[in-house]
Formats: sequence, structure tokens, C-alpha cells
Amino acid sequence: MAHTIIPIDIPQAPTSLHIERGAIARLAEVITSHGIALADRRVLLVVDRNVTQLAARSAASLAAAHAHIGAIHLDATETAKNLDAVEAIWHAALAHHLDRRGLVIAIGGGLVGDLAGFAAATFLRGVDLLQIPTTLLAMVDAAIGGKTGVNLTLPGGGLGKNLAGAFWQPKLTVADADALTTLSARELRAGLAECIKHAIIAGEPRFTALDIDAEQLARGDTAALDRLIPSSASVKAAIVTRDPFERGERAHLNLGHTFGHAIETLPKVDLLHGEAVAIGLCAASHCALECGLLAREEHDAICALIQRIGLPTELPAVALEAGLADEILRRMAFDKKNEEGVLRLVLPRSIGRVEVVTGVAEATVRKALASIGVRA
Ligand SMILES: NC(=O)c1ccc[n+]([C@@H]2O[C@H](COP(=O)([O-])OP(=O)(O)OC[C@H]3O[C@@H](n4cnc5c(N)ncnc54)[C@H](O)[C@@H]3O)[C@@H](O)[C@H]2O)c1
Repeated sequence: MAHTIIPIDIPQAPTSLHIERGAIARLAEVITSHGIALADRRVLLVVDRNVTQLAARSAASLAAAHAHIGAIHLDATETAKNLDAVEAIWHAALAHHLDRRGLVIAIGGGLVGDLAGFAAATFLRGVDLLQIPTTLLAMVDAAIGGKTGVNLTLPGGGLGKNLAGAFWQPKLTVADADALTTLSARELRAGLAECIKHAIIAGEPRFTALDIDAEQLARGDTAALDRLIPSSASVKAAIVTRDPFERGERAHLNLGHTFGHAIETLPKVDLLHGEAVAIGLCAASHCALECGLLAREEHDAICALIQRIGLPTELPAVALEAGLADEILRRMAFDKKNEEGVLRLVLPRSIGRVEVVTGVAEATVRKALASIGVRA
């Protein structure tokens, strides 16, 4: 089978991304080909309820390799991305007698991957983890790089995204694009938002390649996805290899996320993570334009690509109540990148160059919010 292996050489935690159609059905063979033992090992599958059938195929392959399989099935919703879910995984691990040689395998989108990863990082102070992403977003982004965690309720209300967690590198990530056939068109497009983010960070030729394939990708074209997944994932892999703990450059991967996280969980807003990121990319581009960092032409190219892919560039009208800007600013104040109460935004300077900018005036941030339809 044609496959791509992207090594991620993180000191003390080297890992790889294995990309291959059909890999899930022969998961044991793929895992052992990376030198990871399965025989007589206790394995807990943490499964997104919407991919139960896929997971059953993996389980059959693993059982045939003499692994002892247990499983827990979870709902993938942001409100359930909390410590209760992590505790449920810990208890499933206990019930399955997972020991320090045990293995947690996350099978699902980024949400289940983040939960299973955090549970693996903390159970017995850390057991091995494998990520088997089943959404496009998780294949190119969430399942790479070892960020795990849960949402927290903010003081004053609202969900704070991923505010508690740990860095815990998977031993291996296996991306099988055949898993995407059951994913809705809307979820697929949402995953393309992170690919646009990667293309803005990496610059040419990735940005133009994505632009050329935009319509095909939005339709889920197999050949276009097979071109995109290794290309986009390699942008993330390269950055996390250089900066695994986000001491510097890795923060660039937050492009669009400070705005995106603040709008994603607003009441009455039915936005997927990737859709919120798409709107956040427009807001960050507008902010950069207002700051005189980004040329109008490049701002327009970013927003045009988002639109061509069929992603939103503005908040849905139903959400647009007076005073919303204040609520979004309140939520942005809890962003993990902020230092001593000062907002730090990742902004594009050009396609191919992004940077962390501190001390953007509130009035400028409000203009960026107005550009995505938010009334003062
Ligand atoms: N750890 C990281 O570095 C990182 C990076 C980006 C995003 N994230 C997190 O990832 C989450 C978003 O991930 P996501 O976009 O994968 O969404 P998700 O995990 O919420 O999955 C989206 C939906 O698709 C369903 N699903 C998953 N795979 C499917 C398949 N093959 N067929 C049919 N349905 C399927 C899920 O059940 C869910 O309903 C957010 O919580 C975000 O914070 C983490």
C-alpha cells in the first residue's frame, strides 16, 4: 500500500505520523511496523461514538495480534470535553487492568483525541498513547504534536477552551483518509480551516496549491485530499518538532484561534471548531490590516480562499446581539497565550509570515470584531 511516514523527532519523545488509506483495518500490522509491541499488551480503545464500526475493525486487527482489548465509547461534544469524561476513561482503564505497559488508543476526532490523550498522560502518571484520527482536522492538526486537555467553565460563565491539559506525545499517529467517507461535508470543510491556517503560516507554494484545489477539497475529492493531508500535516509536524512545548514558534499555530475560541462556544452560536477558526482567521487578518502589518491584497486573498472552500467569514446573524463585542473580549482575556493580563495575538504579516503581537489596542480588536459582523 502507498503510504507516507512523517517522522516527528522530538527529543525524548520521537514519534511519527503514518498516512495510509486502509490502515485502520490492518492497524496491528501498521503499529508493529513502527516497532511498537502489541502481543500480551493491555490496550484501551477510547472511541468516538460516531466511529464505532471503524473502531471494531481496529479492535479485530489488534486482537488478532494478541493484544487484550478494552473499550470506552464517548460523545464528542465540547460541553462533554471535561474532567468527567477523563475520569470515565481512567475508570475504564482501571476496570481493564491497564498497567504501566498499557496502551491507550484514541479513535475519533480531535475532541476524543484530546480527552484520551489527557487521560493517558495522567493515568498511572503516564501510559503510552496512539492517535487514530478520523476527522480531517485531527489528521492534519489535532492528533499531531501532543497537546491534550479539557475545557473549563470560566469565572462569570462560558466555556474556556482547552484550559487544563498536558503535553503528551503519542507514540504514533495513523491517518487513514478512508475514515473520512462517513464524515459530513460540513465537518470536512471545518477541517480545511486548519489547512488554510497551515498554508498561511507556510506560505508558497502551499497557499496556491490549496487555492487551486479549493473546490475539489470542499467536495471531498479523494485525490485532492491525498495531496493535502501530508502537505498540511507536515507543516504542523515541522513546527512541533522545532518547538514541542510552545516556548516560541509553536504559538504561530494559534493563528485565528484567539478569536476562534472566544466565538466558538458563545451561546446561540452553532459553530464547529474549524468554522470558528475560519472566522478567527478573517478577524486576525483584519486586525493585521488595521495594524498596518498585512497588505490589503493578502488579507483579501486569505478571506477569498476561506469563502471558496465554503467556510464562514462572519458570525451567523442569530448570534449578533448588541454587547457581544464585550463578551468576546472578556473571553479573549482568558486565552492561554496572554501574559500578565496583556492580550497576545498571532497575526499574519504576509502569506508565509506570522508573528505574535502584544499590546494591540482594544479599539483595533473591536474593529476586527466588527469585520466579522460583531456589533459593539
Ligand atoms: N490537540 C490539538 O493540538 C488540537 C488542535 C486542533 C483542535 N483541537 C481540538 O479538536 C476538537 C475538534 O476536533 P474535530 O474537528 O476533529 O471535531 P470532533 O472531534 O468534535 O469531531 C467532530 C464530529 O465528527 C464526528 N466524527 C469523527 N470522526 C468521524 C467519522 N469518521 N465519521 C463520522 N463522524 C465522525 C464526531 O463524533 C463529532 O460529532 C476541538 O475540541 C479542538 O479544541 C485540538
